Parts: sequence; structure tokens; C-alpha cells
Amino acid sequence: MILRRILLVAQCLVLAMLSVPIAAAGQQAEQTRQGGAVKSQVDELLARMSLAEKIGQLNLINVGEQGISPEVRDQVINGQVGAVLNVVDVNIVNELQRIAVEESRVGIPLLNGRDVIHGFNTVMPIPLGQAASWNPELVQRATRIAAREAAAAGVNWTFAPMIDVTRDPRWGRIAESFGEDPLLHSRLGAAMVRGFQGDNLAAADTIAACAKHFAGYGASESGRDYNSTFIPESELRNVYLPPFQAVIDAGVATVMTSFSDLNGIPASGNQFLLRQVLRQEWGFEGFVVSDWASVEQLTVHGLTADDREAALAAIKAGVNMEMATTTYQQHLPDLVAESQISESEIDQLVAPILALKISLGLFDRPYTELQGLAPELSEALEISKQLALQSLVLLENRDQTLPLDSKQLQRVAVIGPMADDGYEQMGTWVFDGDPSRSQTPLQAIRSMLGDTVEINYVRAMETTRSRPDTGFKAAVEAATAADVTLLFLGEEAILSGEAHSRTNIDLPGMQQELVHALAKTGKPLVAVVMAGRPLTLGNIVDEVDALLYAWHPGSMGGPAIADVLFGNESPSGKLPITFPRVVGQVPIYYAHRMTGKPPTEDSILRIDEIPARMPQTSAGFVSHHLDVHFTPQYVFGYGLSYGEFDYTDLELSSDTLVQGELLEIIVTLTNRGAREAEEVVQLYIRDLAGSITRPVRELKDFRRVLLQPGESRRLKFTLRDSDLAFYDSAMEYKSEPGEFMLWVGGNSSAELQSRFRLLP
Ligand code: NOJ
Repeated sequence: MILRRILLVAQCLVLAMLSVPIAAAGQQAEQTRQGGAVKSQVDELLARMSLAEKIGQLNLINVGEQGISPEVRDQVINGQVGAVLNVVDVNIVNELQRIAVEESRVGIPLLNGRDVIHGFNTVMPIPLGQAASWNPELVQRATRIAAREAAAAGVNWTFAPMIDVTRDPRWGRIAESFGEDPLLHSRLGAAMVRGFQGDNLAAADTIAACAKHFAGYGASESGRDYNSTFIPESELRNVYLPPFQAVIDAGVATVMTSFSDLNGIPASGNQFLLRQVLRQEWGFEGFVVSDWASVEQLTVHGLTADDREAALAAIKAGVNMEMATTTYQQHLPDLVAESQISESEIDQLVAPILALKISLGLFDRPYTELQGLAPELSEALEISKQLALQSLVLLENRDQTLPLDSKQLQRVAVIGPMADDGYEQMGTWVFDGDPSRSQTPLQAIRSMLGDTVEINYVRAMETTRSRPDTGFKAAVEAATAADVTLLFLGEEAILSGEAHSRTNIDLPGMQQELVHALAKTGKPLVAVVMAGRPLTLGNIVDEVDALLYAWHPGSMGGPAIADVLFGNESPSGKLPITFPRVVGQVPIYYAHRMTGKPPTEDSILRIDEIPARMPQTSAGFVSHHLDVHFTPQYVFGYGLSYGEFDYTDLELSSDTLVQGELLEIIVTLTNRGAREAEEVVQLYIRDLAGSITRPVRELKDFRRVLLQPGESRRLKFTLRDSDLAFYDSAMEYKSEPGEFMLWVGGNSSAELQSRFRLLP
């Protein structure tokens, strides 16, 4: 409880306490002391503030690139602004702070927020790519780099991590998510929070994080951004909320509401989400910021009749800070005057905002140091490369086409719109991304092969969407003359991200036709796809010899890809999201429920096999589509390696699990290949009979393991009954006694299995 109470004011110490238990008692006492000190400082400030100044703290305005207009200056001087966003010129930030601290009556410093979603000046892979690394520790290190670069620009608060579980590749914002799984989201979200906030929020190079979008945004109907969501409460609690709880446990300072309407109540006016779950059940004591204009939009949704009602609804729900619109500024004074809201309710909303400013050290150190905060460029690029490397997923590798042996090659054709585009490889959120830091695949391949191999580059298409095929001739000529063709395809950055959803998720433009044309040359064809979402690849997979999925890999995508193509590194990424065969299968995800009529290979009739006028009753009654196989193109967790991993000798410490005790799961992993390689070992379970039906598989743990050729290792995982718990139909969180299946392997279709029984 103590930990909860002081979470906001001393996240750093909480983390330290968790990792150094011996010092726990002393640190807890220190936290309590600091928590008490922060509280008294907040109380003291509140006592000095007018109602208008308090309402000012709830106001987040967009200052942006245009700098400090006379209007912004006046607002800051008058205490009408608590936070600004999108200012990344450190001199402007410092001047704004000076105005706030020296010229406003109470002298409260400002928060300065910015979307630091996947890197800052140095761009990391998009979050979906980061998720493919299944490496929380590396994600944390990459986020630390981003935080230091952002802090150097005067940013003290970011709107990340986005931890919206999603199962819809049409949704453009899937690029910003960690994919379809709650556990992967939880671990990577917590890693990002630790990366941004470090172990001391008051340090000059740490920034406050913001978990978003609370909640359920990833379930937008038809994958169209901002669309309504309908999520049964048990599904909400079992799938969409756990990542938020995990990042709150990791000490995240703030939470952002979602644009979406959840079961009829838009998130920014949703008391169930923001009051009941977030504050009462989870004890969150940080503050909640609306998404951009989402308070005003309560009226557009049709929840409220006008701005005044919208402000009231958001306040009652507990939205502390309004982003970009001014319904609070305009209507809270009257709403208080008319006793619709009490001043003490306003105080409660202001307090955590002030507490965060104190925790960030802004009262003691309002100005950003002009030097020494940003990491060395070489360090930032190295981590960006490591993360890009671990995010690469090898999807196909026929006849071991990869890795290429440069000694065997005389001529290589490098083709495609994504081969040499340093901007597009950065991905969606790159306000501050520096394209001059990008190293493209073409550059990297050139510098790797030097003069030893002739490289013939043909862009072939101006953009990934281009329709004319005028560049195909040169591409085909280059491929015909080459020993191997490296084809760089995908989606430009603008085709994913906010408001950039698609209904057709095939390769855009004439890229498919380009694959067909190049395949016809008969030369080995290696396709590398850079995209912000899973694309449907069924129409090209049979024509390529190898297929590497690179997401939008960020600044260092080129060298990472070249290292994998030419065998300096083994690919080790695994899919954080199921790849459908065709878009009509969506939503398709590994943790689905079993139907009463599951399909099997011999129970399905395909559309071409159905005789004319076949009686309706003889075509079978199983759950499938007539025109596409019921399995996905690639399952969750899938990814090939240059190593060859074998899983054997699965043993459980017992065939029963007693509540409160541990079940040990031990498996042997062997690398039978000829190369050192890393494998992501995954543990799945299934609860065979539950009071509500349970997913056919659920990821319960994972681990990256590096093995030398021929090396074997015994790996141990553990499960407790609490790992098997879920929310039932009465919203009770519990595990239910009975039989469980368990699988260990390299993807969600792993076959090595065992069973155990959870005892009452
Ligand atoms: C709207 C987006 O939904 C949100 O994720 C982002 O942080 C804000 N704009 C601020 O840019």
C-alpha cells in the first residue's frame, strides 16, 4: 500500500527497492519521507493558487514549431497553462520555463510533452518491430537512448508507450503497438517505461512516460482508426487491460485516454475505466491526460450536447488534463461557480500534476542543460542497429538461400522502392527523426561488399504505390545479369500509423507484378519487406526463395539487414502478430477460442472442390472459409533462424499444481545447426475447461537463448496458479482447478506438449 501511495513521487526508488530487497525497508522509509515531502509541497502550492490557476494546470496546449506567440506568452504568465507539447527547440523550452517560473504569479514550471514513440533523432524500429525482438532488456536500452535525446531537446514528458493490444492489421496504429498478445505488451511496455523514466525521474536525462490509449483502442471496428469498440468486460480485463496494469506496476507517471468509444462510453468520459478500474481498483495516483481534443469530441461522439457538458463529463470521469482543446478553461469556472463541480474536486485533479512536476525536479531545475544530455551518436546508432537486427523475422528460406556467401557472388541486383530510401525506412512517428542518420540497405550492402562484387541498383518504382511499370525492364535486366536479386519491397511510412488504416493489406502499387517479373528470370530472389503492419503475402511467397520481414527498421535498418542477408548474424526475430493469408480472415489470432465445430484438414471442402448443385447438407459443418485455408500465413511467434533448434525432453516437476506452489517446466533446447544463433523460447498453456471458454493457447513466458552450434541447454520455466488466473463472467479474478495443456517451442504452433492438473 505504501508503495502504491508514493508511486508517483518516487518511481525510481520503487524500482530500486524491487531489485535490492535487502535495502527495502530503508528505502521504503525514504519513499514515505519523500512522498510526505511532495504532498506537503503540493498542499502548499494549492493553498497559494487561485481557482483560475488551478484550472490552468489542467490545460495542455500545442505550442509546436511556431514558438512563443504573444498569446502563448500571456497564457503562461497568467497561469493558464500547465503543460505544452511539441516544443523541441531547447532554447524555446527554456524561455517558456523562464516565463512560467519567473513571470507567472505562483511560478509553476511547465511539462513539455512530445511523442517519442520509437526513438527521437536516432530512430529505432517501429514498436511492432521492437516487439518482434521479444527482448525487453534491449527495448529498455533503446528507449533510454530515445529519452536522453529527447531530454536534451527539453522534452520532459512523452506520450509512450502505446500498449494497445490489437488483432487487426488493417489498423494503421498497429505499427505503434506491440502486436496481439497481452503478455508481450506487458513486458515490453514496462521495459519502455523503465527506459524513459530510468531509476530516477528527477535526473536530467529521464522523462515521464505515458501509457496509452486507455483503453481498448486496438479493437476499433473494421480496423478503421478512431472507430467504436465493443469489448465484453471479461475480454477487456483479460486481454486489453493487463498491459496497463503492468506499466502502472512499473511506475508509469501518466496515462492517456483513448479516442475511441468503449461499449457506448467514449474513453475520455468513461468513469468505469478512469475512476473504477484505474484509480479504485489499481490505485493509480499519477494523472490522466486526454488524447488530442478528445474531451471536446465527447460531443461529436454524441455523449454530450456541448462543450460544457463535455468538460463536466471528462472531469467527472477523472481526466486531469485536457489536450489541445479548451473546454476546461472555458467551462470549469462556471461549473464550479454553479456547484456542479467542487473546488476540492479540482484540487484532486491538479495535485498529481504538481506532484509529477516536483518528482521530475522541475521546481529545483526548471531549465534543460544545453550540453551533455544526449548520448554519443555512435552509441545511439549501435543500439538502433542491435534492435533492428533482433526485430528481423525470416519468414521463408528455401534451400537455404540465405545467408548469402559474398565469395560466391560476382553480381548482385538490388532492386525496389525501399532499397535506398532513408526516410521511408524510419517508419511512422518520426517528428524528430533525422533522415541523415539513416543507413539504407543499398548503402550497407555497398559498404559490406566493397569492390569485390558488382552491385546493380534499380529502384524500379518511385514509391511503393506507383502504378506504371516503366522501371520493370531495367529491373529485369539487372536481375537477369545477377547471381542473386535482393528485392526491397513494402509500404512507405505514411501507409501506417495514426488515421492510416487500409482494407487491402497486400503489397501496394505494382510490387506484386514486380515480384512476378523478377521471379520469371529464374535467378534466386530474396525479398525484404519493410512495412508498418503485417501484409498479406500469399500472392508472392511461392515466387521468392527467401523472405525477410524488416518492419520499418529505423535509422540502422540497412546495416542490420545486410548483416543478416550475408550471414554476419543469424535472424532471431519472431512474429508478435499473426499474419493472415487474406484480409478476409481478420481478426485471426493465436489465442482465439475453440468453436464447437473446429476445422481439420480432412473436414474442409475448398471452393474449387465443391461439385455443382451439391446438397447444402453435404459440404460439411465446420468453422472455416470456403475460399481460404483456415490457418494463417504465419503464426504468432514464428520466425526462422540460421541455427536449427530442437526441443526435446520436456519434463514437469509434477503432474499436479497445488495452489500457492510452483510447477517447474524443464526442456532441452539444442542447436543442431552449424552456426551460433539465438532462439526465442516460448511457453504456452491451455485451460481445457473453464467457467468461461479459454483461449486455445496463451503465452505465459518467453526467453531469448543464444546457443553455439551443437550446444544443448536445459531451460527451466515456472508457473504458479496465479499465472493461470483470469476474469470469469462475474469479473472474479481466479484460477480454476482442472486440466491444463502446456507447450514449449519456437512459435505458437509448437508441438512438444505436456499436461498438468491444477488442484483445488
Ligand atoms: C494523438 C494520438 O492519438 C496520440 O497517441 C498522441 O500522443 C497525441 N496525438 C499527441 O500527439
